[in-house]
Amino acid sequence: METVFIHYFSGTGNTKRAVDVIAQDLQKNGFEVRQFAITDAKPTIEENADFNIFAFSTLSWSAPALVKKYLRRLPKGKGMKTGVFAVYAGDPGQGILKTERLLAKKGFNVFLSGGAVYPNNWSQMTNPNPPTSPEVKEILARGDKMAMDFAESFCKGQQQPEKKEQSGSLITRFAALFFGLFGRRFLGKAYIADSACSHCGLCVKTCPVHTIKMAGVIQKKPHWKFNCEDCARCINICPQKAIQTSMPKLIFNFLLLFAEIGVCFPVAGRITSILSGPWKLAGWIGSFGITLLIVLWLQFVVIDRFIFGLEQIPVFQKFFEKSLTKGYNRYMAPGFKPEKSDL
Ligand SMILES: Cc1cc2nc3c(=O)[nH]c(=O)nc-3n(C[C@H](O)[C@H](O)[C@H](O)COP(=O)(O)O)c2cc1C
Repeated sequence: METVFIHYFSGTGNTKRAVDVIAQDLQKNGFEVRQFAITDAKPTIEENADFNIFAFSTLSWSAPALVKKYLRRLPKGKGMKTGVFAVYAGDPGQGILKTERLLAKKGFNVFLSGGAVYPNNWSQMTNPNPPTSPEVKEILARGDKMAMDFAESFCKGQQQPEKKEQSGSLITRFAALFFGLFGRRFLGKAYIADSACSHCGLCVKTCPVHTIKMAGVIQKKPHWKFNCEDCARCINICPQKAIQTSMPKLIFNFLLLFAEIGVCFPVAGRITSILSGPWKLAGWIGSFGITLLIVLWLQFVVIDRFIFGLEQIPVFQKFFEKSLTKGYNRYMAPGFKPEKSDL
């Protein structure tokens, strides 16, 4: 019996649902299927697998940063037959093609790529109403059908790699790059557990990348570290709908960041004024980069901790929890129960 390893990343369960549909179909067709949730950058790859499928939710026209890291750390593919599957809400952008290229570079033989449209779970800033039933039922049924088609093509061994990017505009490329490097972390730092938080710790236990920790001196509450993927699981899984994007934090972080970048220019200029010739440009770039790293550390570690401390005081908590997301609907794929880690 041939074995298929399915490696997947899912925030709110759509990708997991698609993976289950694919797995069932493959099993019906005589394959043995093993599933692996991608929760860190340590790849699970076995020499004895006949096939691999890499499945992920699309975040900002790209595969999640963690998935890319996971793929980069894979051992050499040695021509192993592989499929790529993206789950998205409308436009997968460069996610599929870039993943194919990455795998091809590692020596995998990507013979099939595909994707499926599932309900939109983006509710951090806009989209106050992710689709609710019965619309959601229709979208899920269509998504399942697309996942099934992928599985069928896989069983037939049909060669169908992605030919071109779905959305190749410069703006989406830039957004994907910026989001992966920085935007997702920045947004994660604006999350707040508001006064409705019951301190149950479910967000901490189920975060797929373990970025949330319970912290605080007066009262323990969720705190987001700097490696958030923005997969939206915590926001959508919270039984109290208590996780919001804090507008004051978002605006404060934006303004501070601009001010810091403004400061980096004269600092880099001062430092490099003593240099001359070819060293001047290299020195400027180096000192700008180092200064930026220092101010980022100050902002997202030191000042962030200070603000988190203030959140322990009710009057500041009330101020920082001002958000647009409070009344938004939440979305989780029906029946999705993410694995819980031990605290
Ligand atoms: C931060 C974020 C960014 C997203 N970006 C895109 C996108 O660029 N294109 C798209 O079609 N869907 C996008 N989505 C929607 C998800 O890809 C979609 O809802 C998917 O089904 C989620 O899968 P999951 O439940 O497995 O996490 C985004 C969602 C989030 C939370």
